[in-house]
Amino acid sequence: MTNDDSTAAPLIDGFGRTIRYLRVSVTDRCDLRCRYCMAEHMTFLPRAKIATLEELAIIAERFIARGVRKVRLSGGEPLVRRDVLQLVERLGRHVGTALDELTMTTNGTRLRDHAVVLRDAGVRRLNVSLDSRDPARFRHVTRHGDVAQVLDGIAAAREAGLAVKINMVALKGVNEDEIAAMLRWCVAEGHDLTLIETMPLGAVDEDRTDRFLPLTAVKERLDRSFALTRDEGGTGGPARYWRVDGGATRLGLISPLTNNFCDGCNRVRLTTEGRLYTCLGHDDHRDLRAALRDGGIAALDAAIADALMTKPERHDFRIAAGAAPAVSRHMSVTGG
Ligand code: 5AD
Ligand code: SF4
Repeated sequence: MTNDDSTAAPLIDGFGRTIRYLRVSVTDRCDLRCRYCMAEHMTFLPRAKIATLEELAIIAERFIARGVRKVRLSGGEPLVRRDVLQLVERLGRHVGTALDELTMTTNGTRLRDHAVVLRDAGVRRLNVSLDSRDPARFRHVTRHGDVAQVLDGIAAAREAGLAVKINMVALKGVNEDEIAAMLRWCVAEGHDLTLIETMPLGAVDEDRTDRFLPLTAVKERLDRSFALTRDEGGTGGPARYWRVDGGATRLGLISPLTNNFCDGCNRVRLTTEGRLYTCLGHDDHRDLRAALRDGGIAALDAAIADALMTKPERHDFRIAAGAAPAVSRHMSVTGG
């Protein structure tokens, strides 16, 4: 591998944005079926189309050699891919040198078994999806999930010394009345909380318009119960942050529909198939796995350069009644 050769130039897109953050979807599969994310009966990628972990590792390491400082593994549910911990261990070796951070977004169902291994591999923080702490409601949103298992997984992560950020998709009429209680719980437990607006990614069984809850209104409501002070220490990512009641907990709001954040976008996404998507909201992509197979690192670099020049200026999400999803692929394909 020629990962540290002098041709390893930084990654700059056509709008002058430097790419420092790579998200890797290691599987499109999941053991849950969150209603806003997946249809009840999903067709997953055939195994033959899935890149090997070796391929994903080579591609990710190329991005690291070219200036990516943060890698997030996601899915689908990354911990349902049997050999994922090998990838975590391999990429974890770069933490503290080329890489500032290796993180994971997980639904938490398997964290009890894996938290210590993740920590030992160099992971320091996890995002855990949790849309409700109420068992019946959690079961409804995920179509069959057991919230006790997830809460136990979160506890295991904290026992292992991992910092936890809860991701909660704000859903009108579903968990909207639970947002303040979730924030209070996060303050008590020492977790951060990020609220996310539902995004039009992939066909699901219901109309997302019915569930769309603008976070501007949520924030106004939270302001009545909490002292929220703006915290600028963001990651150049889509979330805007607030400190809660002057304590350690940070509240993040990801509102792609009410607040466009594309100007500072520093990220690209690698899928399970080894494709590079430069924007969550566009279908344009390059097949990095094919490039790597056909022409090695030189062809990989050429495909990456090509992809960066076509990275769109911004996404164009809209939530409108009856409108088709902005893109046909689900979040679980591109990685959340
Ligand atoms: N809109 C908003 N958030 C979504 N997630 C999955 N699909 C969607 C969608 N269509 C969330 C998950 C997870 C995070 C990575 O993205 O709940 O927390
Ligand atoms: Fe699975 Fe996460 Fe999608 Fe829920 S949101 S179905 S946990 S990938």
